[in-house]
Amino acid sequence: MSDIIRIGMLGCGTVGQGVLRILHETAGTIERATGHRIEVVKVLVRDLQADRPGVDPSVLTTDPEEILGDDSIDIIIEVMGGVDPTHDWLLRALGHGTSVVTANKQLLARHGPELLAAAEEGGSELRFEASVCAAIPVIKVLRESLLAAEIDSVMGIVNGTTNYILSEMRGNGMSYADALAQAQDLGYAEADPTEDVGGADAAAKMAILCSIAFHTRVLIDDVPYSGIDSLQSEDVDIASELGFVMKLLGVARLVDDAVSVRVHPALVPADHPLAAIGGADNAVLLESSMVRQIMLVGPGAGGTETASAVVSDVLSILGSRPGSFLGGALADAGRPMAADDALESAFYLRLEVADEPGVLARVSSVLGESGVSILTVLQRGEGDSARLVMILHRSPEAQVAEAIGRLAEMPEVTAPPVLIAVVGSGEAPR
Ligand code: NAP
Ligand code: HSE
Repeated sequence: MSDIIRIGMLGCGTVGQGVLRILHETAGTIERATGHRIEVVKVLVRDLQADRPGVDPSVLTTDPEEILGDDSIDIIIEVMGGVDPTHDWLLRALGHGTSVVTANKQLLARHGPELLAAAEEGGSELRFEASVCAAIPVIKVLRESLLAAEIDSVMGIVNGTTNYILSEMRGNGMSYADALAQAQDLGYAEADPTEDVGGADAAAKMAILCSIAFHTRVLIDDVPYSGIDSLQSEDVDIASELGFVMKLLGVARLVDDAVSVRVHPALVPADHPLAAIGGADNAVLLESSMVRQIMLVGPGAGGTETASAVVSDVLSILGSRPGSFLGGALADAGRPMAADDALESAFYLRLEVADEPGVLARVSSVLGESGVSILTVLQRGEGDSARLVMILHRSPEAQVAEAIGRLAEMPEVTAPPVLIAVVGSGEAPR
């Protein structure tokens, strides 16, 4: 590479403008530290006239060939998002020996192995720190510092938008809709925010994290997910009364050396380290018998925060040789995906029931017959009906599912049961 590093950038929105700003503001530091001057020579956008404060309009283009067809470009930064046409464009660039830095988790979680293979063949590098947890260097820590730490669990808050919404609802009593609108205004949300609130964004990030932590190819289709869009605010409030905090969690672990991973709303005890993570911050809790617990915390979304990870990847490319062991981030140890019936969890269960004698006993006996034990019960009468909220001890999930199926069919149960996992309580199975 020459002293001048020529960059082509695909996209110039929230993150792209942050990248241009950081590169401009830190040009002197970068040159002193790396011996390279970075020049952004072309930036692809859709609309040349859109408002982009501080961006030199002469670098803008709407023609992707001005970047993809320019052999003098050393590194392409992809911050436009979407799986198409980015998939074909990045395959082409990597195959031709142009290194790529991307923030695109949906693309990585679908086509990561194929893109890394193209990089290996083309003698280029693919870096994607910004695709997971924005400013937190979790990929670098897993790929380098903890490469051989035999991680056996990865749990975290990996979506900034939903954490912001849940924090605002709990802390400031803001409505779901208002909190989402604020997260969009602050640049945290995806172009289509249903990816955030529905859990697809977090699922993509967990697929990427699992692939690296467990040395196994995990794609987004391997990650069952649900989001906070179907949560009811009363469950957030009741959870709080019971001493829990509602979070959208990614939970992944090795179960008999198979990979179990999913994304779902979960209750965490108020004194758990993840409970304190507020606003758009993210946190990833890594566990292994070697290092016990390491938690990485920091900004999980936002233009400048994400851009800092993009710039750090550009600098890593300048500082590393193509073909080094760091390129093998998605090495395949051949682990299978764990079957659901191998898993155990504690749960929060809310039942709306008819307020009649013996209902609580019948509910308890259905749970007992399925081998599910109750830790806490809260009962409130409301006229002819009553609300039963229970925290269930950790039990095999298949047994809980069977019990919930039977409860849902009881004539005294007047609405579909609400079941939410409780995570991190250290509850022993009963
Ligand atoms: P954004 O504000 O919507 O910006 C997207 C940019 O890409 C815009 O400049 C847009 O052009 C351009 N673009 C989109 N489709 C294009 C196409 N087909 N051809 C040419 N240009 C196209 O998005 P963002 O928030 O910066 O996010 C970018 C990427 O970073 C996404 O992959 C996202 O998941 C990821 N990310 C975002 C954050 C965050 O906090 N925002 C954090 C981590 C990762 P116009 O300006 O002309 O519309
Ligand atoms: N929309 C994402 C989030 C951006 O809210 O976490 C960071 O990937």
